[in-house]
Amino acid sequence: MASEMRAFQIEEYGDPDVFEASTVEVPDPGPDEIRVEVVASSVNPVDYKIRGGNIPDFAPEFPATLHCDVAGVVDAVGENVDAFESGDEVYGMPGGAGRQGALADYVVGHAGTFAHAPDSIPLADSAALPVVALTAWEMLADKTTVDIGDEVLIYGATGGVGHIGVQLADWFGADVTATASSEAKRDLATELGADVTVDYTDTAVEEYVTEHATGGGFDTVFDPVGDDHLETAFEAVRPFGTVVTTESSAAQDLDLAPMHANSLELGVVLVILPVLLGDRQERIGDELETIATLVDNGALEPHIDDRYAFEEVADAHRRAEEGDFVGKLLLVAE
Ligand SMILES: NC(=O)c1ccc[n+]([C@@H]2O[C@H](COP(=O)([O-])OP(=O)(O)OC[C@H]3O[C@@H](n4cnc5c(N)ncnc54)[C@H](OP(=O)(O)O)[C@@H]3O)[C@@H](O)[C@H]2O)c1
Repeated sequence: MASEMRAFQIEEYGDPDVFEASTVEVPDPGPDEIRVEVVASSVNPVDYKIRGGNIPDFAPEFPATLHCDVAGVVDAVGENVDAFESGDEVYGMPGGAGRQGALADYVVGHAGTFAHAPDSIPLADSAALPVVALTAWEMLADKTTVDIGDEVLIYGATGGVGHIGVQLADWFGADVTATASSEAKRDLATELGADVTVDYTDTAVEEYVTEHATGGGFDTVFDPVGDDHLETAFEAVRPFGTVVTTESSAAQDLDLAPMHANSLELGVVLVILPVLLGDRQERIGDELETIATLVDNGALEPHIDDRYAFEEVADAHRRAEEGDFVGKLLLVAE
């Protein structure tokens, strides 16, 4: 095989046009790693936050190949790896933060950061799932549990994480209330499985709590947005209830008095942590195996708003940062 490959890299932080097409050496897998021929990736906020220099601690070494999500075909296997063989169709979250990522012809990552891709959707489409589905899964199945009939409030219900959160909570049998800022987004949230939707831009928290929750608030509030949303989450949850979030921005000066007053639980997810630590990577692969089963059972489906070629990564980042999309933006290797 060729010893060189194409990669879309950044050599400095900057706006979306900072990406450059480069020719780099094809990486070889270490003993616990696999190499995957990349079919697709997708855009997550972490990718454009790294590109913009907002989270320098997460950046791979420069010149940096970004993007966390990947779907592709196993091409080489390290000597300690039993779970995969060449030709397997896989999806995963091997790098893009902490180590080189997926925006290239090949990516190498710890075998524990991959799983066999779902059979029931095109391989490329499974690249829309890893970051957002792992995050939603950890929020609803790791940081808390959701039982049949639980009242669950999902913020940001048509974003990447939220649109999986709605489907998962619905699959667990919850009574799902979803917030979204436009009518089109609320219609999509209903299609995804929300029982009721709320325009949070013109509805007071007390109003939607009174209308859609019993027991003084929701059993669980799912917050993949942060800031104001994390603050209102503490108003919308019932006494002894649970708030799960992806965010720390508000938490930096967050007043925990409302949590104390209502004896709340707070679960905070950092899904990329095993990649950053280079430890406990099997969490990722094990959860992705479960997620693939859910997809194949019809419980979950990624909603793909639009597709871009790798060469169009700057356009995809601009669109993602403008927030003018629902579900996911896919990047397809051509
Ligand atoms: N900690 C972790 O492990 C982890 C993992 C994944 C994601 N995240 C973080 O979670 C957040 C959501 O990720 P995502 O993939 O769901 O993002 P996304 O696809 O861009 O969706 C974000 C949603 O948030 C809502 N929103 C409210 N205010 C917003 C604002 N000022 N700007 C943009 N969106 C706003 C929007 O819904 P409405 O228009 O309906 O308000 C939008 O649909 C990001 O900050 C991301 O970095 C963290």
